[in-house]
Amino acid sequence: MKPVVLIVEDDQLMSDSLIKVLSGEGLNPLAAGTGGEAKKILESTVIHLILLDINLPDMDGLDLLKVVEETEPDIPVLVMTAYTDVTVAVNAMKKGATDYIQKPFELDELKVIVHKALENSRLKSELTTLKRSRKTEHTEIIGKSQKVKDLKKLISVVAETPRTPVLVVGESGTGKELVAAAIHQASDRKNFPLVKINVSAIPENLLESEFFGYKRGAFTDAKESKKGLFELANNGTLFLDEVGEMQHSLQPKLLRFLETQTFNPIGGIKEIKVDVRVIAATNQDLSQLVSEGRFRDDLYYRLKVMVIEVPSLRERREDISELIDLFLAMVNKELRKNVKSVSKEAKTILMNYKWPGNIRELKNVIERAVIISQSDTLNVENLPMELIKGEQVPQKGNFKKISEMEQDYIKKVLSFTTGNKSEAAKILGISRSTLFEKIKRYNLN
Ligand SMILES: Nc1ncnc2c1ncn2[C@@H]1O[C@H](COP(=O)(O)OP(=O)(O)OP(=O)(O)O)[C@@H](O)[C@H]1O
Ligand SMILES: [Mg+2]
Repeated sequence: MKPVVLIVEDDQLMSDSLIKVLSGEGLNPLAAGTGGEAKKILESTVIHLILLDINLPDMDGLDLLKVVEETEPDIPVLVMTAYTDVTVAVNAMKKGATDYIQKPFELDELKVIVHKALENSRLKSELTTLKRSRKTEHTEIIGKSQKVKDLKKLISVVAETPRTPVLVVGESGTGKELVAAAIHQASDRKNFPLVKINVSAIPENLLESEFFGYKRGAFTDAKESKKGLFELANNGTLFLDEVGEMQHSLQPKLLRFLETQTFNPIGGIKEIKVDVRVIAATNQDLSQLVSEGRFRDDLYYRLKVMVIEVPSLRERREDISELIDLFLAMVNKELRKNVKSVSKEAKTILMNYKWPGNIRELKNVIERAVIISQSDTLNVENLPMELIKGEQVPQKGNFKKISEMEQDYIKKVLSFTTGNKSEAAKILGISRSTLFEKIKRYNLN
């Protein structure tokens, strides 16, 4: 089956020539001249890639992008912008576009980014399937940096205390859940349950009964009593992930539990006493939530007594190498591959990247790279674009111009190939002539 590409473009001439090029590439192009038409096609047809012009007659292309991200987040979207529209391209990337191409573009360039986007999305779905079928989780905290040594020490100190609540904070993907598991394992509670719940994953109206359970007859549907998580975790540990998302009305009940180890099931008159250590985690700034009135200060102060900060990966780059080895070994085993090493250039990139998604991101990058690698060494080509480009999705308030990002990217790649332009063009995914043109334009010689 040919991949279906939806072209959303009001300029008929442009649209026709795109159809011609993409058909020639073995793809199945469909065209929509307006945002409305595009929406109709999306509702009725399976689409593998969208090529989106930002200037549409009936709506803003960015709004259409938003609709796609909400309804079909797996479809990659390539945005076409005018050369002058730098901010538009940046905005589009922030809103979830896969990549952008600036008009006027060379057809070669277009072909390359279309194929790359399709290939990436194919890999992604392959990966999801693989992950669903096999799952190995790692439970040891890896790293020799001072930060990790301190972290481990703190974990063992905390584990000694019988029921002090712990607040684990850190950016997404730093290993907060792993820290919670480590505390549980190192404590006297290790032979009892470690119960995990993600506060943001449960609808607000169900959370209280999940937590505390209910008694028969508490409400119409309560034909039997149900035990809550606090009771199920008795003698063990309860891990409350994303505690910052907890609804206001439930917070005093959690506080009461932390202070007395007792609670009332919904509809229950008798209070229940258990022995549970609560470990809460968040990647939000709770003090900020307190000042916004979204998190109760008394609960915050209770949780703040014992805080464990999990360092971001860029604060402990010296651990990256060991983590790479760990993930290589894990992924090789999982996927029955045999990728033995990482090339020097690829390693430099991995060591220098900012890792906004921290260890989880590193793990995903290695996994993806192993899948696409054709040899027993991971190369620069096996790494995703955003790593090579550096920080592709700009951080708040501090955008680099796209042309600057592109310059940096080209410079980096050229230095990896020690100036070899054919090689660099291959890595960059553009033709040699395009590369020469860009080198001239940016004065990179
Ligand atoms: N020090 C480490 N050594 C080995 N693997 C780790 C380490 N830290 C984290 N991991 C792995 O990284 C992944 C992310 O960790 P985890 O789920 O604990 O992050 P998190 O901080 O809870 O992230 P989020 O805030 O997004 O929920 C997991 O697969 C975990 O096994
Ligand atoms: Mg987590």
